Amino acid sequence: MIIGVLRESRPGEARVAATPATVVELVKLGYQVVVEPGAGVAASFSDDAYAKAGAVIGDALAADIVFAIDAPPVEQLDGLPGGATLISMLNPRLNPSLVEDLSRRPITALSMDAVPRISRAQSLDVLSSMANIAGYRAVVEAAHVFGRFFTGQVTAAGKVPPAKVLVAGAGVAGLAAIGTAGSLGAIVRATDPRPEVADQVRSLGGEYLAIETADVEVSATGYAKEMSDDYSRRAAQLYAEQAKDVDIIITTALIPGKPAPRLITAEMVASMKPGSVIVDMAAANGGNVEGAVAGEAVVTDNGVTIIGYTDLAGRLPAQASQLYGTNLVNLMKLMTPDRDGRLVLDFEDVVQRSMTVVRDGELTWPPPPVSVSAAPAPSTAPSTTAPAEPQEKRPVSARRRLALAGVGAAALFLLTALSPAALRGHLTVFALAIVIGYYVIGHVHHALHTPLMSVTNAISGIIVVGALLQLGHGDNVVTALSFVAILMAGINVFGGFAVTRRMLAMFSRS
Ligand SMILES: NC(=O)c1ccc[n+]([C@@H]2O[C@H](COP(=O)([O-])OP(=O)(O)OC[C@H]3O[C@@H](n4cnc5c(N)ncnc54)[C@H](O)[C@@H]3O)[C@@H](O)[C@H]2O)c1
Repeated sequence: MIIGVLRESRPGEARVAATPATVVELVKLGYQVVVEPGAGVAASFSDDAYAKAGAVIGDALAADIVFAIDAPPVEQLDGLPGGATLISMLNPRLNPSLVEDLSRRPITALSMDAVPRISRAQSLDVLSSMANIAGYRAVVEAAHVFGRFFTGQVTAAGKVPPAKVLVAGAGVAGLAAIGTAGSLGAIVRATDPRPEVADQVRSLGGEYLAIETADVEVSATGYAKEMSDDYSRRAAQLYAEQAKDVDIIITTALIPGKPAPRLITAEMVASMKPGSVIVDMAAANGGNVEGAVAGEAVVTDNGVTIIGYTDLAGRLPAQASQLYGTNLVNLMKLMTPDRDGRLVLDFEDVVQRSMTVVRDGELTWPPPPVSVSAAPAPSTAPSTTAPAEPQEKRPVSARRRLALAGVGAAALFLLTALSPAALRGHLTVFALAIVIGYYVIGHVHHALHTPLMSVTNAISGIIVVGALLQLGHGDNVVTALSFVAILMAGINVFGGFAVTRRMLAMFSRS
């Protein structure tokens, strides 16, 4: 089959749905790729680069499968041949007229922004890819306007305090913003109604600001729900306090299918220091910030810049195209089970079902709901301040513990009494090793167990030495046992080092 890559027609759209690198992958899957002339120029990919990657430059609209970033305009849709498959971001939840128009055509339409948020579909999730880039770019835009350093410095000309950044909403975009602002040296704080993100915020060096309330909305879908009045009141208090203190606010609060929740009021903006910057990433959906204008940067009377750009991911077009193109390659891998350049739409697969808006001219939107639990929904509401604790193990009762210790001691006594004198010393060392090992290993943090075990496995070297000493004593049984001991201990030693090496490689920069 032929895949066509369209040149985007929306003014200002610099992204493209395939890059030379992703064309190579599509060709490997057995497809022919046709790229519309100049499709990648705005993202710095020349026609020559596509041709070198194996694509043909030509009429992409006539292909069997058509790739685009945004939904093509009507004139392009009219040019799609019957039986074609259109794959792009269609935003079907907020675009019912487009969905209706598509359903009148003898085509299949898949919406890349309708991929369910489940782990298996992460590699095709364009909303996450784009939000990640947008979160990064939001900080870059803020830094561009902010008239000071993000990082604190002590210089000969005086001390510079670090900038303070507040991120509202710690989803994909929020976490990317936290990481980026932190890496520029700012003090970063973040808040989010989903308590399970607290650890993620901290792991990126941010401070998690919990909003204490009894009415908690626990995420069972990967997305937040609308907040209660009590939550909103307490959140408003927190934002009012933070607005006076911080230099930059980045808002990313999103509830799918709803207008963006209003978090920052005009009074809060008025209380900020002159020169402060707000980036409202939800400006396209009505905005989290009062006074934000979609697609524009406005400066308030007190000198606060409110940025409402809606094309943040598109402002890094080469990067965004590469990630979007890779998401498409991953979708094609899923839909090309035989790697033979033939697209197979499997409606049994929840991912493919969820993103199909129209199948052969038949309307299939909305899809059945998918349970996309990002965190197990607890049966009772937990506190917002801390993630739900794992179920505690029931402690062993004192009587049972005493009985077990008694049985153990009696067994050891019997074993010692019945063993030859030479063995008693070994048994004592063995028993002590168990007790000391239990307490020493038991106090090592869980996260360090694998490296600890992989390195201490080298203790198997002692077994190797012992077994080597036993070899050649003439007894075949002893020789066979020694051989087995050396083999097993060898696997342990080399396996341990191999695991350690692999773990260290995960942390090294290539
Ligand atoms: N401006 C752009 O160019 C651009 C580009 C990409 C994404 N976005 C927007 O960025 C936003 C974030 O996208 P995402 O993919 O990170 O979404 P996400 O669902 O991963 O994150 C949204 C976060 O907001 C939180 N949230 C919901 N209600 C809240 C409230 N009342 N207060 C505080 N937090 C709340 C959610 O818990 C969630 O963690 C969306 O509005 C999206 O449309 C903008």
